[in-house]
Amino acid sequence: MRRKFLAGNLKMNGCSSSICELVDAITTRSKNFHDCDVVILPPYLYLNEVSLLLEKSHLSLGSQNICQFNNGSYTGEISAEMISELGCDYVLIGHSERRNFFLETNNHILEKVKRALENNLTPILCVGETMEERAAGQTENIIMDQISSTHDYIGISQQEKIIIAYEPIWAIGSGKAASENDVQDVLSSIRRNLETIGDSVTLIYGGSVNPENAQAIFEQADVDGGLIGGASLDEKKFVELARLLQEV
Ligand code: 13P
Repeated sequence: MRRKFLAGNLKMNGCSSSICELVDAITTRSKNFHDCDVVILPPYLYLNEVSLLLEKSHLSLGSQNICQFNNGSYTGEISAEMISELGCDYVLIGHSERRNFFLETNNHILEKVKRALENNLTPILCVGETMEERAAGQTENIIMDQISSTHDYIGISQQEKIIIAYEPIWAIGSGKAASENDVQDVLSSIRRNLETIGDSVTLIYGGSVNPENAQAIFEQADVDGGLIGGASLDEKKFVELARLLQEV
């Protein structure tokens, strides 16, 4: 049985005090929402502080990235083992901002998924197409290509431990989410392509989700939740999204 799932990707925003205030407010306001898993993904630097704040709450902690290598001589990097020790249960892997700005390929992403699973972290694997790819009718191929390298490598049993976030690149930060029908089409095609395990994989949508458009998206049959960027920086909006998700 799939659980509803909402994650707030704070990206590279905030400072120690603003993030602690935000997380404190989200924790207090969402304490009665037990029907969905809520995860906060702060910048690396604040994981420890947020971890302490979340200790007695029902919210979970995740990081926005990990290194594809185990501990060693990789200056400036952070390993899966390190974030696991800090109390993270989840890690975002392959966000389009990492693919675009930091040139991460499907191979890097596969290695990161492996490191995550080896360290008992649940990877939230981000996939999505550009507007040009969509216009050329390539959405399904692009997305299955992004998923299949991990799918082929880690095999069917582990695949169920991955959450897949469909984030069309053209919708992220644009203020205009994909329509609920487009979201449903893509997520149902992912489930179909994952064949026997399709029904057990948690699939979420991200890209300009806000309290105005969320209900229509969350109501779709194959949508298990959301990956929230901008609206996760506003506690009222993020808590409202958790409430809407728990009630659909
Ligand atoms: P926005 O909600 O700001 O569009 O960001 C989505 C996202 O990239 C979450 O990972």
